[in-house]
Amino acid sequence: MNVKTNIPLSTLTTMRLGGSANYVIEVTSDKDLREVYKKSKQSGQPTYIIGGGSNLIAHDEGFSGTIIHNKIMGIEVTNDNAQATTVTVGAGEIWDDFVKQMVERNLSGIEAMSGIPGTVGAAPVQNIGAYGQELADTFVSLAAYDTQNDSFVTLDKSACGFAYRHSIFRGEQMGRYIITRVTLTLGKKPPQPPFYDALQKYFEQDQINTTTVTVQMIRDAVLKIRSNKLPNPLQLPNAGSFFKNPIVEKQLGDTLKATHPDMPTYPVDETHVKIPAGWLIQSCMLKGKILHGIKVHDGNAVVLVNQSAKGYSDLVSARQEIVDAVYQKFHISLEQEPLELQ
Ligand code: EPU
Repeated sequence: MNVKTNIPLSTLTTMRLGGSANYVIEVTSDKDLREVYKKSKQSGQPTYIIGGGSNLIAHDEGFSGTIIHNKIMGIEVTNDNAQATTVTVGAGEIWDDFVKQMVERNLSGIEAMSGIPGTVGAAPVQNIGAYGQELADTFVSLAAYDTQNDSFVTLDKSACGFAYRHSIFRGEQMGRYIITRVTLTLGKKPPQPPFYDALQKYFEQDQINTTTVTVQMIRDAVLKIRSNKLPNPLQLPNAGSFFKNPIVEKQLGDTLKATHPDMPTYPVDETHVKIPAGWLIQSCMLKGKILHGIKVHDGNAVVLVNQSAKGYSDLVSARQEIVDAVYQKFHISLEQEPLELQ
């Protein structure tokens, strides 16, 4: 168990903001995790679990408690047949390293989620998704420490309440479970066209016959597309999409489309559509703008880059200006996507 004291949260989160945490403790096993959690609770301190810190915003006042850095590792095949392989993976594994290994084994179902920063344990929390796939599609179950009952539990897909960028872990059960392992079933069939729009276009541009596409080709294409649109958090501090793509009534979507025919909309169900937050922000002429040291990313306006913010309050001011501008123009309230450490 590795215990560190007084660690700046700016070094643990990719947005690179935030004061210090009293304790940061790395855990590598279920036993250590339980022990650290119980000790911290007994001392009356708050506890927070962190993975890669790529979807987390820290505050200037820091965290007066214990941050548990989940480093439970391991990738294990738990079932294998002619059609599919079931894999159980430790929450501390780096998500993209895991994707890379699965793609190397020619397994499909997560290849379009290549390049997403963060750890495996964080993936179910926001039900990560990209380029036509989301975690819930291949998800079987997860193992977690239930802090309420001091027990280890298995939660199946329906228990996790997955929705667009949402689950019980950031909703009604926030703070209750510490995810230790995730089990996915990945397919063995080659990927089938038609692919997500951006991928389809990419392959057409390169004159690639989409019926011969492999999972490795999808991974390579996604990494290329992402590198053009999304900033690498190691170079430009950011937390991925800073806003969720708003889901609105189809009627409002239709009304807006009448005045903004170039507005992209994606059907969600019969009565709702999703509108890209990046498009809404760009339409408010904010793309590339620097607000309080926070830059609206040139490649995709849904990403905010911490260029020179002096602290969390600068991010709050920038966020407010963006939310207000979009509301004024479209009467749509943008919602923040990354969680806040508080
Ligand atoms: N668009 C603009 N301007 C922008 C951004 C987007 O006009 O500044 C338009 C694009 O031209 C396109 C549409 O909006 O027509 C959608 O854009 P894109 O395919 O880039 O995806 P997105 O909706 O902005 C979502 C996810 C990303 C994910 C991509 C690809 C959310 C909040 N974001 O972005 O996820 O990588 O789709 O599937 O759902 C993340 O969650 O952190 C993330 C990066």
